[in-house]
Amino acid sequence: MLSRSQQVKDLVTRLPVSGGIVSRYVPGERISEVIGAVRSLAEDGLTASIDFLGEDTTDEEQAEATVLAYLELLEALHAEGLARQAEVSLKLSAVGQALPEVGAKVSLENARRIARAARFAGTAVTLDMEDHTTTDQTLETLRELRKDYPETGAVLQSYLRRTEDDCRALAYEGSRVRLCKGAYNEPGTQAFTDRHEVDKSYVRCLKILMAGQGYPMVATHDPRLVKIAGALATRFGRVQGSYEFQMLYGIRSEEQKRLAASGEQVRVYVPYGHQWYGYLMRRLAERPANLTFFLRSLLSQK
Ligand code: FDA
Repeated sequence: MLSRSQQVKDLVTRLPVSGGIVSRYVPGERISEVIGAVRSLAEDGLTASIDFLGEDTTDEEQAEATVLAYLELLEALHAEGLARQAEVSLKLSAVGQALPEVGAKVSLENARRIARAARFAGTAVTLDMEDHTTTDQTLETLRELRKDYPETGAVLQSYLRRTEDDCRALAYEGSRVRLCKGAYNEPGTQAFTDRHEVDKSYVRCLKILMAGQGYPMVATHDPRLVKIAGALATRFGRVQGSYEFQMLYGIRSEEQKRLAASGEQVRVYVPYGHQWYGYLMRRLAERPANLTFFLRSLLSQK
C-alpha cells in the first residue's frame, strides 16, 4: 500500500540517503560510494553483486541511461582492481523489457552490451528475477545471453509453483543459479502464499541444485535454510566454494562475516543509485518491525 502511494513516495524520496533507514539497505547513490562499500566488504572476506537501482522502465532513453550506468560501473570496478570481488545484478525491466512490442529485443541487446562489458572487466552478470509475468521472457533472454556469455547467472524464486521444474532445467554444468524465496506480491495460482510452503519449496529446489552440476547460489537470510544448505552440500559431496551463500547489504551482516570466516564463499547484494524507493519498500514489507521503525523515522522528519 505504501509503495503505491505517491504522497508517501514524494515524502520519502526527499529524505537524505545518508541518514537513517535508507543507508542501512543502500550504501549510496554514487559509484564512489558503492566502490567504498565493496572495498569494505572485501576486507571482511566478502564478495559482492552490485545492482544499479531502477526497474519497470517504459522509456527507451531511461533504459539507455541504465545501460550507460552499468558500463561506467564496470569500468570503475576494473580500474579499481575490484572486478574479481564484484559481479553485477541486472533487472531486465530496467533496460527495456517492459517496452511495448520491442521489449524482448531491446532488453536482450542491452543485456548483451552489459555482459560484454562485464566480460571485458573480468566479471559477470546475474539476471535478477522479477514478477511472474516476466519469468518466461527472462529465462529466454538468459538462454540467448549464455550462447555468448555462458558465465551469466540466473535467479529462481522458490515461491513460484513452477520453480522446481526450472531448477531441473538449469542444474547443468557451468550454470550459476541464485535461489531466493521471491519478493513480489504474487497470486495463489502462480505462487505458494503460505510461508511454510515457500520454505519447503526452497528446500526441494535446493536439493535439485546441490545434486546437479551447476553452481548454486543460496540467497537467503533464513537461519534454518542456511543450515539446511550446509547439510545438503555435505550430503551431495560439495566442497566449500562449489556453491555460495548470498545475502542483502545491511541484513544479518554478522552472519555474513561468520560464514565467510568459516571458509564459505559469501556474496553480498549491494544496491546503489537514486532510484532506491521500490527496493526499500520491498525490504520494509519483508519485516513489519522495519516498517514500524521506518514510519517513526518518517514522522520525526515532519
Ligand atoms: P525471510 O524473509 O523468511 O527472512 C529470514 C530472516 O532474515 C528474518 O527472520 C530476518 O531475521 C532476516 N530478514 C529478512 N529480510 C529482512 C529485512 N528486510 N530486514 C531485516 N531482516 C531481514 N527476490 C526476487 O524476487 N528476485 C530477485 O532477483 C532477488 N534477488 C535477491 C538476491 C539476493 C542476494 C538475496 C539475498 C535476495 C534476493 N531476493 C530477490 C529477495 C528474496 O526473494 C527475499 O525477499 C529476501 O531475501 C527475504 O527472504 P529470506 O530468504 O531472507 O527469508
